[in-house]
Amino acid sequence: METDPPTNLNGIVPMRFIYRSAEWYERLYPQSAEWAEDCFRLVHRFAERPPRSILDIGCGTGLALARFAGPAIERWGIDALPVMAEAARQKNPDATIAVGDMRDLHLGRRFDAVIMLGGVFSHAKTNEDVSKTMQVLAKHTEAGAVLAIEGINACALLSGAAGQRNWSIDVEADGDCYRGDAEISIDLPNSLFHLKRTWAVGDEIIDVESSDHRFMLPLEMEVHLKHHGFSLVGFADNGQMRPSDMSGARAWLVAVRNAD
Ligand SMILES: C[S@@+](CC[C@H](N)C(=O)[O-])C[C@H]1O[C@@H](n2cnc3c(N)ncnc32)[C@H](O)[C@@H]1O
Repeated sequence: METDPPTNLNGIVPMRFIYRSAEWYERLYPQSAEWAEDCFRLVHRFAERPPRSILDIGCGTGLALARFAGPAIERWGIDALPVMAEAARQKNPDATIAVGDMRDLHLGRRFDAVIMLGGVFSHAKTNEDVSKTMQVLAKHTEAGAVLAIEGINACALLSGAAGQRNWSIDVEADGDCYRGDAEISIDLPNSLFHLKRTWAVGDEIIDVESSDHRFMLPLEMEVHLKHHGFSLVGFADNGQMRPSDMSGARAWLVAVRNAD
């Protein structure tokens, strides 16, 4: 594989605390298993035939790749963080996993399905990042390939339908109870949301991590996809693509790669 590890990892994924270990990440994001299941069903629903190859971009700990395991499918995953790539490798020893940046990926082959779950796409923050990531998607998909993207739902975030922008989570680990207080603020001119999470054990603050994420509304996403050779076939606030008013906290998009 021609992918070199990115040099400036903190610039790509600044959150050190939530990604400090695979186990920790899976405790914080128990929804990952549900995303993997929904994604498996969506890909099979929209593909003309069962995919013989799949690429998971921002594969995290490899839960979705594991869901796609089977004798007739080649599975590849990339993630910007070595700790995530290593966890994905352990979970999927017969898959090809590498450290890589979704904006600059040259695997030299195309796939029947490409998936990006858990807000990976929102790490493309600038228009240039979005365009580079779209080029990567176009370059790595066969005609008819299914692209599935899941992340924060911008419609609900901006309208307030997603509910409160501050929330807390409690995580038991290493014999301690960690509390993570998250706050989201919105930078409208730059189409970014800023996530700040303060971690404490008891009254002691042990880390503050923050990150910026791009938000895109459905028609904006559709125009980028069209420009890069994809047809949008579904956009909903649920992983079953039920008709929706887009008020749910997360959004799913499915697109199909057009013939060249
Ligand atoms: C919230 S996690 C989602 C992980 C996994 N897809 C899941 O469903 O659990 C976001 C992942 O995106 C990865 N990521 C962020 N920016 C990236 C980039 N530019 N290229 C590749 N991976 C990236 C992070 O390292 C992290 O593993």
